Formats: sequence, structure tokens, C-alpha cells
Amino acid sequence: MALIVLNIFLCVAFLDTGWEIKPPAYHRLCKLEERTVNCNGKSLSSILEDLPPGTEKLFLDSNHIEMLKNESLVQYQNLQSLSLCDNGLEIIEAGAFLGTRSLSHLSLTNNVLAMNYSVTAAALRTLSALRKLDLSGNLLTEDMVDTMIQHLPSLESLSLAGNAIMRLDDRHFQNLPNLWHLDLQQNYIFEIEAGAFEGLRGLQQLNLAYNYIPCIVGFDLIQLQILNVSNNHLEWFFAAENDAAFELETLDLSYNQLLFFPFLPRLNKLKTLLLTHNKMNFYENLYNRSENSVQLLFLDGNVTNITTHELWEEKRHGNLSSLTFLDISWNQFWYIPDWFFEGMVLLAHINLSHNCLKTLNLWEKEGMKNLIDLDLSYNQLSDLQMNLDQRGSLTCLRSLNLRSNRLHGLPTKMFTHTTKITTIDLSNNPIEICNSHDAGNPNCVNISNMRSLRNLFLAGCELRELVRHAFKGTSLVHLDLSSNPKVLHNGLGPLEDIAKFLQILSLRKTGLFAPSAKIDFSAFQNLVDLDLSENSLDIFPESLSGLKLHTLDLRQNRLRFLPQHAMEKQLGKSLRVIYLSQNLYDCCKLGWRDTLHRLGHVHIADMSEVTCNYSSRFFSAVNLPESVIQNCKWLTADMALVYLVLTLPTFLALLVAFGIIFLTFRERLLQMVKRRYRRSSSY
Ligand SMILES: *[C@@H]1O[C@H](CO)[C@@H](O)[C@H](O)[C@H]1NC(C)=O
Ligand SMILES: *[C@@H]1O[C@H](CO)[C@@H](O)[C@H](O)[C@H]1NC(C)=O
Ligand SMILES: *[C@@H]1O[C@H](CO)[C@@H](O)[C@H](O)[C@H]1NC(C)=O
Ligand SMILES: *[C@@H]1O[C@H](CO)[C@@H](O)[C@H](O)[C@H]1NC(C)=O
Ligand SMILES: *[C@@H]1O[C@H](CO)[C@@H](O)[C@H](O)[C@H]1NC(C)=O
Ligand SMILES: *[C@@H]1O[C@H](CO)[C@@H](O)[C@H](O)[C@H]1NC(C)=O
Ligand SMILES: *[C@@H]1O[C@H](CO)[C@@H](O)[C@H](O)[C@H]1NC(C)=O
Ligand SMILES: *[C@@H]1O[C@H](CO)[C@@H](O)[C@H](O)[C@H]1NC(C)=O
Ligand SMILES: *[C@@H]1O[C@H](CO)[C@@H](O)[C@H](O)[C@H]1NC(C)=O
Ligand SMILES: *[C@@H]1O[C@H](CO)[C@@H](O)[C@H](O)[C@H]1NC(C)=O
Repeated sequence: MALIVLNIFLCVAFLDTGWEIKPPAYHRLCKLEERTVNCNGKSLSSILEDLPPGTEKLFLDSNHIEMLKNESLVQYQNLQSLSLCDNGLEIIEAGAFLGTRSLSHLSLTNNVLAMNYSVTAAALRTLSALRKLDLSGNLLTEDMVDTMIQHLPSLESLSLAGNAIMRLDDRHFQNLPNLWHLDLQQNYIFEIEAGAFEGLRGLQQLNLAYNYIPCIVGFDLIQLQILNVSNNHLEWFFAAENDAAFELETLDLSYNQLLFFPFLPRLNKLKTLLLTHNKMNFYENLYNRSENSVQLLFLDGNVTNITTHELWEEKRHGNLSSLTFLDISWNQFWYIPDWFFEGMVLLAHINLSHNCLKTLNLWEKEGMKNLIDLDLSYNQLSDLQMNLDQRGSLTCLRSLNLRSNRLHGLPTKMFTHTTKITTIDLSNNPIEICNSHDAGNPNCVNISNMRSLRNLFLAGCELRELVRHAFKGTSLVHLDLSSNPKVLHNGLGPLEDIAKFLQILSLRKTGLFAPSAKIDFSAFQNLVDLDLSENSLDIFPESLSGLKLHTLDLRQNRLRFLPQHAMEKQLGKSLRVIYLSQNLYDCCKLGWRDTLHRLGHVHIADMSEVTCNYSSRFFSAVNLPESVIQNCKWLTADMALVYLVLTLPTFLALLVAFGIIFLTFRERLLQMVKRRYRRSSSY
């Protein structure tokens, strides 16, 4: 029975392999894989004729094919995708694609197709199945583009990035009903006339980044989902004022000159709004409302049209109830109006960093319920107010960044419901950490009992000395206390509650000094990365040798040497990177360097900057002068000889003295011996 089954199996296997025609797996030049042929970078000047006839994808990037001749692809009838980037390609002859009816993807990036564009255009016209065309980097002007894409109704995706297009009007982009993706970034576009994209009814993604567009007025591409106008010269963005339901989901207007928050479509599906690096501010508080409209003048041929926009219309930013990601960092906001976040019920990420905010009211609004991360770093906040009486406020918050502000404390109940918060950055604020009798004091920050907290940054806060249980009830994994010279005045005691959790600890510039038992790291058994730089350590803390550190930073201390035995323990096994420069090493006690080298896996990241001191002069520890080495040898290695030389005269003197004594008392000694002998012989 088993034999029959085996027979059948063998037959099936035989049929399977024997009759199927597979493309050859080897070619003298190109890499073959399934039906894909890769001939990139082979210095070819024409298309090879001996490739497998069934080839579907052909890559010929970075060759020297300057001309694609008539019928050069005729034997590859199944070709679907062809890539000819970086070839110096000047012309595609009109009959080049005859026979390749199924070609759907064509990439011609970085060539010089502007040279004979009309001939190339005739060739493209024969590609009736073309769906994706990449013409980026070909020095094409808008009129050349016109000619080249005129008869490609099947096109779905077109890239014209990095060409020489300057202005667009309704003559361009006709007859492309299926196009949904258009990339026009990195051109010289300074003007787009109304109706320029009217022919593109299916357009969903439009990229106009890196151009010279000064404003967008009457934006009415209702079906568009992604619009990217970043890195232009936009001062204004006005959507058409109507009640059409825009499909817009992502709008990138970052790196422009916007003075006002963009005037968005009233009805939209915006999820991501990127406005970083502009000049936006709110001005309601500064000027009188009556004077607040702007008149825009449009010149269209000989027709002048003036439209007036009210700038202070409440909620002029449209209904942003779908917005989840808002980046308005690097602007000039002095304040955020109370109504601003209203209706943004799904907002999860807000970036307000690098503005000029002095106060901020985070009133308990629906808006704050889904907030996951809030970045308010690099402002001038001295006052953060919250009305967070209701349950459920900030319940989703995971990350709060308040770095580089002027805060003295935080609202007392701020963290009452933040059960998911993992990261808080309060660096460079004049804050204090609350101690036990500070209950309810808004001028300090209460970290204790925040169970979810993992990462806490308190660098440069001028903190006073920490109390013993400042971090009790937390499980901090990463703590940065650097640049707080008083914070650990009496040793590491305040860290004892979290010592066993910490993995990354920065104690740079915390005034640590002396070898005493105060600097005992033995409880920090999970520590992986420790920064002790810019302190006054003159002796390597012995307790470090039992840790499993990967990275250790000891720069700018007063160390004279590293004890070699420290590296023979646990530390030597786990250590991978160590920073050692700017200490006071003794040139004659560099044995630790060889010990580290011998371990093999320890990288001294700043070895070239490590110096040592020999008779009050500093030398690079890498290129120690031969004379210093010799002098050190004399001093240390031959110490035994020195001792010998020093003790020899004493020894000789003793010997001589002993000799003299022996000689002078010889008579008497002999007599004594004789006397004894006699007495004993009288038996
Ligand atoms: C290439 O083919 C086109 C059309 O098939 C023809 O008009 C043209 O003359 C041919 N060019 C050459 C160089 O043979
Ligand atoms: C291609 O363009 C160059 C210069 O623009 C011209 O000299 C040459 O005749 C053109 N070739 C064809 C086939 O049109
Ligand atoms: C917009 O285009 C720029 C340039 O290509 C790119 O860096 C940026 O990520 C794009 N924005 C979005 C939202 O994709
Ligand atoms: C605003 O208008 C009031 C009168 O309506 C006037 O007294 C005040 O000076 C104006 N302020 C500014 C900044 O123009
Ligand atoms: C504007 O120009 C068009 C031709 O471009 C002309 O027919 C029309 O009379 C002009 N209108 C005015 C007001 O000058
Ligand atoms: C001028 O603007 C108005 C309103 O925005 C519009 O209805 C009208 O068609 C425009 N006229 C011209 C000549 O563009
Ligand atoms: C905003 O739109 C949502 C649905 O898209 C709707 O439920 C909500 O009422 C709108 N808000 C305002 C203030 O119009
Ligand atoms: C906020 O923006 C700044 C600067 O653009 C950036 O460095 C930071 O990572 C952003 N914050 C978040 C949370 O994405
Ligand atoms: C800090 O907060 C915890 C609970 O979040 C509370 O038990 C403790 O009393 C507070 N301490 C101070 C000084 O406010
Ligand atoms: C350099 O070493 C000498 C002893 O060799 C010592 O007296 C001197 O203080 C050291 N100089 C410095 C700057 O540490």
C-alpha cells in the first residue's frame, strides 16, 4: 500500500517539474528572479536581446542607454514594468514600444527627455495600458509636459517632480480622467490658475512641495484627500467658502510664511494638519475686531476681482471633528484662544513647541479626552491652567513635554486621572519637586505615586536637594537629573525607591564628588546606561564594577586612573561603550587602557581626546611620546631595581659592621667556645 502511494507521489512530482517551462535562472550579466530581470549599473548602451522572452519587469537603471530605438523591446511582449532611470536618455523613438502593449509602469527618472520631447511623446502615445509614469528630473517645461501626456487616458499616477514647470492653467492636465496621484514637487511653480486641475476629477493626492507658490485662494478640489504644499512661499490659504463636503484628510502647509491659521473647508475629513515652521499667530486680543478683514485682489487677464475675508470669524478653521494630528510648532503664537480646541474631539497629538506661549488654559473640553501626546516645549509658559474637575480628563495622555519653559509648578490635580502617562519632560524649568509637607502646593511638581511613569527628564531645573522619597511609588526606567548641582548633595539616597527599576540614568553635572559610601550604585542592578560626566569624581566608584552597564560616561571628572580589577568583574563583561576624556589621568598609570583593549568588546568612544599628565604637562594618551614612556618605565616597572639599589648600601654597611664586630670580639668568642667545650668534656 505504502509503495503505491509513493509511486503516485513520484509521478505527480515528475509531472510537476518536468513539463513546466521555467525561464532560465542565469544570465551572463543580469540578475534573474521569477519574471524580473535586473540589469542595473551594467554600462549597457542598448537593451539586451538575449533576456528571457517572458520577462515582465525589467530594470535598466544607471546605464548609458541614450536612445531607445524602434522595436528594441519587441521580443519582450509580456513586459509590464520598465525602469530606465539615470541613463542620460535623450529620445525614445516613436516605434520603441511597438509590441509591448501590456506595459503599465514606466519609470524614466533623471534623464534628458526635454531634448527630443515631441518624438518621445509620440512613443508614449502608443502605450495604451500605461498606468504609472515617472518623468521626474527631465528638465521638462509645462508645454513639453503638455505634449508628452496628452494622449494617456489610462494614466493613474504621474510624477513630474524636479522639472522646470513654472505655471499651470486649465490647458494642462486635460484628458486624464483616471489620474489619482500627481507629483509636482521641486519645480518652479509660482502660479496656478483657477481651474488648472479641473480636468482631474479623480485626483486624490497632489504634491506641490518645494515650489514658489505665494498663496492658495478658493481651494476647491473637493475630492482631494492629500494636499502637500509644504516648502513654498504661502502667506494665505483660503478654501472656497461653500458647504461642499471636502474629502481632504491630510494637509501639509509646513515651511511657509503663513501669517494666519489657514481658512479650511467648512466641511472636511481632516485627520492630519501640518503647519510647522510658519509665522502664524492669533491677533484677536491685539487689535480691534472692527478693522479685521483682508481684501485680496485678483488679476485674471484684464479682469480685476477683489474679495474680502473676515479674519476674526469664530471657528473659521472649519469643523475639525476628525482631526487627530495637529502640528503648529515653530510659529509665533502668543496665546491660544479658548475656542480653538472646541470640537476637536478626536485630537490625539498636539505639537505647540517653539512658539511664544506665555499662558495656556487647558479647559476640560471634549477635545482633551483623546489626547495622547502634548508637546509644549520651548515656549515661555509660566502658567499652565487646567480645569480638570471632571473625571476622565487627560485619561489617554502618554507623553507631556514642557521642556524649556518658565514653569515653577504644575496644576495640583493635573495628574489625577493620567493613568497612562509614561513620559514627562520638565527640563529647563525653574520647578521644584514636592516634598511630603508640600501637599496641595501649586508651586511644586508631585511625581510620587505616578505608577505608569517610566521616563522623567528634569535636566537643568536648578532643583534643590531631593527629599528621600521623592520618587516613591513610581517605576522610573529612565531618569535625567543632569545639570542640577545641588540635587544629590547627600548622595544617592533619594533614588533608592527606584534604583532597581532604572535602566538609563543621567547624573551629569550633579556635583557628585568624593569616593565615599554616599555614591553607592550597588542597588542599581538593571542600569544599562549611566552618565556621570562633569562631576568631581577623583576615584572610580567601586560599586560600578558590579553593574551590567553597556554605556558609561565619565568625561570631565578628576580621575587619575581606572582600577583594573573593576573591569575583571561584571562591568567588564557587559560594557560596550565608555567615554573617558577630560580627566587627570597619570601617564604612568595607563594600564587600564590595555585592560580595556584586552577585553576586545569595549569601545572607548572618545579615545582620541583622552589626555594624561606627566610632570605637569598634558599629552595625548594615544600618542604618548617615547621619552615619557621610557621615564614611566624607569619609574614604575623597574621599581624593584630601585628598591634594590636603594637597599644595597644599607645591606653592605650592615655586613661590614657585622664583620668588624666579629673580628674585634673574635678572641673572646673563641675563648667562650673553648670554655664550653672544656666544661662539657670533663664528663
Ligand atoms: C521608428 O518608427 C516610427 C513609427 O513606427 C517611424 O515613423 C520612424 O521613422 C522609425 N524611425 C526609425 C529611425 O526607423
Ligand atoms: C533630437 O534633438 C536634437 C537637438 O535638440 C536634434 O539635433 C536631433 O535631430 C533630434 N533628433 C531627432 C531624431 O529628432
Ligand atoms: C510633503 O512633501 C515633502 C517633500 O516631499 C515631504 O517631506 C513630506 O513628508 C510630505 N508631507 C506629507 C504629509 O506626506
Ligand atoms: C479699539 O477701539 C476702541 C474704541 O472702540 C478704542 O478706544 C481703542 O483705542 C482701540 N484700540 C486699538 C488697539 O485700536
Ligand atoms: C478683456 O480682454 C478681452 C480679450 O482678452 C476683451 O475681449 C475684453 O473686452 C477686455 N475687457 C476689458 C474690460 O478690457
Ligand atoms: C469675482 O469673485 C466672485 C466671488 O468670489 C465670483 O463670483 C466672480 O465670478 C469673480 N469674477 C471673476 C471675473 O473672477
Ligand atoms: C462637525 O461634524 C461632525 C460630523 O462630521 C458633526 O457631528 C458635528 O456636529 C459638527 N460640529 C459642528 C460644530 O458643526
Ligand atoms: C514637535 O515638533 C518639534 C519641532 O518641529 C519636534 O522636534 C518634536 O519631535 C515634535 N514633537 C512631537 C511629540 O512629535
Ligand atoms: C502626591 O500625589 C499623591 C497621589 O497622586 C498623593 O498621595 C500625595 O499626597 C501627593 N503629595 C503631595 C506632597 O502633594
Ligand atoms: C600632574 O602631575 C603632577 C605629578 O606628576 C602633579 O603634581 C600635578 O598636580 C599634576 N597636574 C595636574 C594639573 O593635575
